[in-house]
Amino acid sequence: MAEPQTSTDRSATLLSAQNLEVSYGATQVLWGVTFSVARGKITCIIGANGAGKTTALNTVAGVLRAKRGQLLLNGDDITAISTRGRVKRHISLVPEGRQLWPGMSVEENLLMGCFLPQFRQRSQAGLARVYELFPRLKERRHQMAGTLSGGEQQMCAIGRGLMAEPQLLMLDEPSLGLAPKLVDEIFEFIVNIAQQGVTILLVGQNVNYTLQISHYGYVMETGRITLEGPTEMLMNNEFVRHAYLGVAEGPQTKEPQTKEPL
Ligand SMILES: Nc1ncnc2c1ncn2[C@@H]1O[C@H](COP(=O)(O)OP(=O)(O)OP(=O)(O)O)[C@@H](O)[C@H]1O
Ligand SMILES: [Mg+2]
Repeated sequence: MAEPQTSTDRSATLLSAQNLEVSYGATQVLWGVTFSVARGKITCIIGANGAGKTTALNTVAGVLRAKRGQLLLNGDDITAISTRGRVKRHISLVPEGRQLWPGMSVEENLLMGCFLPQFRQRSQAGLARVYELFPRLKERRHQMAGTLSGGEQQMCAIGRGLMAEPQLLMLDEPSLGLAPKLVDEIFEFIVNIAQQGVTILLVGQNVNYTLQISHYGYVMETGRITLEGPTEMLMNNEFVRHAYLGVAEGPQTKEPQTKEPL
């Protein structure tokens, strides 16, 4: 795997989040969170339930506002830019829980990913690209999204994210609730998308897989980044192995899959 960026290598950094402080009402949940995402690489954030991972991704997407801190995209300050403005800058979020419109067809859901006029003109090319990546979605393009299997729904959510031609694709728990075979498939798709040049910021509870496909990772605990490094280093870190991988497992072993298909 490639070397991670250094803070001095500016051109290698697509996104830089600096000292983000985010609250829900009076409750602060991110406390000076700093991370960066290297261009063309997969970066991950791992952490326990409630650590603040989704909050961090939603803040990058502009769904939530940071009360302090800064977000730089290609060195430009996007902290004050709207969600729509960030979509225009090709930041795309595949949200936790997929959030498809169940009563709309697969294709209608995909087209919602290119709601901005600049993307709509190229929607047919976008659909062709998504259908090439996910032939199963093409077969089911007229099916209501609510009747898709869990794995197909995740493909549809990722496909919708790709319709906005992302330079940064953020994926929040893409394998949650999927059967082992589908987990394999989804992670393969993510690697495939990264190989096509899309920079990825990945949040995943399937920590072993997430670390295996990422280049660089951050560990988040109760709203703070407590550890970061190349994923080879994290997989061998005592704390990560105990807290997230299970002590009995080696770093190259896939974690046991117990989840049932949806
Ligand atoms: N809309 C909200 N209103 C109030 N508190 C919230 C809201 N959303 C999240 N929180 C709180 O913020 C904290 C961080 O939540 P967040 O969803 O970012 O965690 P997470 O790391 O994504 O967790 P998980 O792994 O369970 O998805 C949690 O304590 C959560 O209860
Ligand atoms: Mg979450």
